[in-house]
Amino acid sequence: MSDSGLGFSHNRFIGLIVVIGVLVLLFEGISIFGGNIIKAQVERSTSKNHPNKNIEKRLQPAIALSQKEAANNDGLSDDVVDAVVNFVAADSCNQVIEGNDMLQFNLKEMVVSSSCSEITVTLQHTGAMPANVMGHNWVLTNTADFMPVATAGGGAGMANNYVPVNDARVIAASDVIGGGAETSVTFSSDLLSAGGDYTFFCSFPGHYAIMKGSFVVRD
Ligand code: CO
Repeated sequence: MSDSGLGFSHNRFIGLIVVIGVLVLLFEGISIFGGNIIKAQVERSTSKNHPNKNIEKRLQPAIALSQKEAANNDGLSDDVVDAVVNFVAADSCNQVIEGNDMLQFNLKEMVVSSSCSEITVTLQHTGAMPANVMGHNWVLTNTADFMPVATAGGGAGMANNYVPVNDARVIAASDVIGGGAETSVTFSSDLLSAGGDYTFFCSFPGHYAIMKGSFVVRD
């Protein structure tokens, strides 16, 4: 029997080396596998909890909240805040508003400058329905006159664009138009005063309850 000098046979010594080698490789494999699991775990919890990771995403809701809070603190709606931010006095003398087939204007507020001597409002009907079915016009009155004028307009009929004839309460009124059409009305600002309470609306029967908004005159 040959001897390795360590009390083993030569073959058993080589066998032992091979077994140790296999165990080392196996252990290393398990370590890498386990390490990856830990890495993935750390990655997940880091992106969730680490303050510097995904910083933009984490900040976005905070900014949105502070803007809304600022608007609420001023007692202004988001629409008014937008209008004020984007307001250019000279540009405000020419207003464009859209009406559609779903009984909607695209604006809830229109803001003009008191420096406008004349104001032109262009109404675009972006729908496809005809004027006798889904007609829209643009009428402006003091808010106090809005309901009575809208009601009187219904009685005035299509021939009068659903606007009471020779009614001093009407500050401005466009023709009634159908889908794909456009019309405009130009009126003097003499009947307007800064800070006044004005309402624009569509006087087509039944539309004024939804198709309306506030018309703001700024200093
Ligand atoms: Co209408």
